[in-house]
Order: sequence, then structure tokens, then C-alpha cells
Amino acid sequence: MLKDKHVTLYVSGGIAVYKALGVVRELVKAKAQVQVVMTEAAQRFVTPLTFATLSQRPVLTDNFSAQSSSDDFIPHIKLARWTDLAIILPATANIIGKIANGIADDLATTTLLATAAPKIVFPAMNTTMWENPAVQKNLRTLDLMDMTVIEPASGFLAEGEIGKGRLPELTNIMVEIYKTFTKPVLAGTNVVVTAGGTKEAIDPVRFIGNKSSGKMGIALANVAADMGAHVTLISTVHDPISSPNIEEVHVSTAIEMQKKLEEVFPINDVLVMAAAVSDFRPVHQADQKIKKNNDQDIYTINLQKNPDILKEISKKKTNQFIVGFAAETENLIPYAQKKLKEKNVDMILANDVSKTGSGFNVDTNEITVIQPEKDPVTWPLMSKSDVAAKFWEYYQNNVK
Ligand code: PMT
Repeated sequence: MLKDKHVTLYVSGGIAVYKALGVVRELVKAKAQVQVVMTEAAQRFVTPLTFATLSQRPVLTDNFSAQSSSDDFIPHIKLARWTDLAIILPATANIIGKIANGIADDLATTTLLATAAPKIVFPAMNTTMWENPAVQKNLRTLDLMDMTVIEPASGFLAEGEIGKGRLPELTNIMVEIYKTFTKPVLAGTNVVVTAGGTKEAIDPVRFIGNKSSGKMGIALANVAADMGAHVTLISTVHDPISSPNIEEVHVSTAIEMQKKLEEVFPINDVLVMAAAVSDFRPVHQADQKIKKNNDQDIYTINLQKNPDILKEISKKKTNQFIVGFAAETENLIPYAQKKLKEKNVDMILANDVSKTGSGFNVDTNEITVIQPEKDPVTWPLMSKSDVAAKFWEYYQNNVK
């Protein structure tokens, strides 16, 4: 979503400047083109060279330094027109006051005044400053000017106090940035996504599990939520970047997952079953930790079959679009096609989990889309967020 987007990051002077470095790294990783503009105060905390190295571009610091080439004769206007998204992070009380009142006394504030692109403001300051009526009035003005102001988080502040004023966590910052480029095309759509590997208890401390990290399912849930869907995420792992559109339900076993899914399935339009469900569970779960017996080298655990959640829920289908995954280590397409038929689903997203960078517990995936009466289509290896974006884009254009 951020690929080739022109993002201008305005860094003003506060202790949180160092956190802007992480944002630049994430933006560059997402293939955005990033131009950093630093106020004079910001340069006292971190040097422009650090930002230039990470963003792979010279940092702009004042109105006059970039005028050597005729191309850059009026850099503030040029930069303003180049920008698809302007981010002010960290935004001090000072820069907030200037923007709210149309003051343009350096490159950052001048360019912001000339920029028509969407603007996200991430204030970070001491709690008392944050609560000051003048700052709050200026923030309301930014709101009226259609800027997105992200409330600071609460926690330990640089001055040693605890209170509101910290920049949000990096993942939450990135979610807000991604949102700017996402239209709410899935508003009114109800989606249920399952994620993570089920854990089938052997005793109070041991379980049968698998390598699923939940990343694939969580990415599908987050992208759908960003696109405006209401999402029920039934997951064995917690989603650290959850959005207000996501209702997260924590489960552990296949039986718990099935029970919750059966409850919510009738009120949903789409089911994406990304969870790695254990096919078996121990027949008995010991009440106490099983003790090692020194005379015994071999232990046997009797297993019983778990329900095939996807196959069973498909029998209850009314209008839902049902999507399963297939995690294979060989014969990817024939095995996935068999699952499509046997589980009676509308689509299988097949991943060869033996390939490097694909499948369990990695940030990327290579998916082959299997549908009835259609040729399989393989998407190149990409981040799980991009897989999710591609899937929902397909759903929006071809199914909805
Ligand atoms: O969580 P990550 O670390 O990001 O990894 C992602 C993933 C590899 C887990 C994901 O991409 C994936 O492939 N999920 C499905 C894993 C799986 O269980 O595949 P399967 O081929 O065994 O099952 C086929 C389908 O039936 C799946 O949609 C599965 O959720 C479902 N199933 C399986 C067994 C069972 N008892 N009930 C089910 O509903």
C-alpha cells in the first residue's frame, strides 16, 4: 500500500525524535519514498545525517539550503506538491501552535502551510503541556482543518513521570499511516478470521501445538478492518496492533475455536480460516503435571481426531464466502484442490510451507489461489500484509 508513495516526515524537537527513526525504517521497508524535514530543535536531539542514512535522501532543514540547483529554487512548494502524505512526528506543542495559527517561520511550517496532502499529527510532550488549554485549543483547530491528530499514549515519560504524552508504539503508528491510503470499501461487511495454532493440552503445562505465529490471520484481520469491515478475530495469539473494528476472541483448543466460530458464523459475510488447527487432541488431559518415571523410556499419548472445523462449518453455509488455507509440503496444487472439494469452500489459499519465507512463523508468504472451475494463480512471495491486501482487493472486486 505504501509502495512508491511520497511521504514527508516532519520531525520537530522533543525527546521522542529518536522514535521517528523507526518510522522512517518501516516506511522505507514498505518501499515508500521518504523525505525528512527537521526543525532546528529536532536537530539537537538527532543529527540529520542519521535520518538521511535511513531515508536514503538528504534531509531538508531550512528554507535556503536547498537553493543551489534551479530545480530546487522553491523547495517548500516543490515538496508540498510532491507529498502524498505529511506526517508530523513527534509534534511538539510549539509546532502544533504554529500550524494551528498559520505561522510559517521555517521550512517545516512553511511547507506544511503549502501542502494540500492529508496530514497526520502525532503529538508527544509532557502531560501538563498536553493538558494545557492552549494546546488543546490548537489541537481542536487542527481537527477542524481536517488533520488527523493521534492521541498520545500513556506511560513512563522522559521526565521520569507517568502520564499521557508518549508517542504510540511503532506498530500503532504504522497502522495509522496505512489507514490514510485505505478506503473503507468493506464498510458494512462482517468478516470472521481465525488465526494461530491451536493448543491441545496434555497436562496443565504441556500441549500439542504447531509453529503458527498467527501473523497471516492477524494481517488478514487488520487489513479487512482498515478497509472498514467489522472483524471477529478468533485467535490463539493476541493481536498487538488491533484496530477498533476488530473484536478479538481468544481461544486455545480446536473445540473452543469451533464453538466460537459456530456462534458468529451466521452473522458474517466472509470466513477466512487461516488458523492451523490440530487434527488430533489427547484423549485424556492429566489434571496434574505428568511425572517422569525413571524405569520408563517410552510414553504413549492416545490421540483422538479433532473436528474438521472448516468442513463442518461449510455445511451451515448460507451466503457466506468461505476461504480456507492449505499448508502443504509437497504436491501443493493437487492437495489444495482436494481440500477445496472435500471441505466445500469457495477458495483455498495454498502455501508451500517447506519453501523458505513461506508459511509458518515468517513475515512473508507465497500463495497459490485455488478456486472451483478456475486455473490456479500463484502470487509472488510478498509480506503477509500484502497477501492480505491482495486477497481483500480480490474479494472487493470479484465477490462482494
Ligand atoms: O500463523 P503464521 O505463522 O502466520 O502461518 C500461517 C499459516 C501457515 C498457519 C497459514 O498460512 C496456513 O496455511 N493456515 C492453515 C494451516 C492448516 O491447518 O492447513 P491444513 O492444510 O492442515 O488445513 C486446511 C484448512 O482446514 C485450513 O484452513 C485449516 O484452518 C482448516 N482445518 C484444518 C484442520 C481441522 N481440524 N480443522 C480445520 O478447520
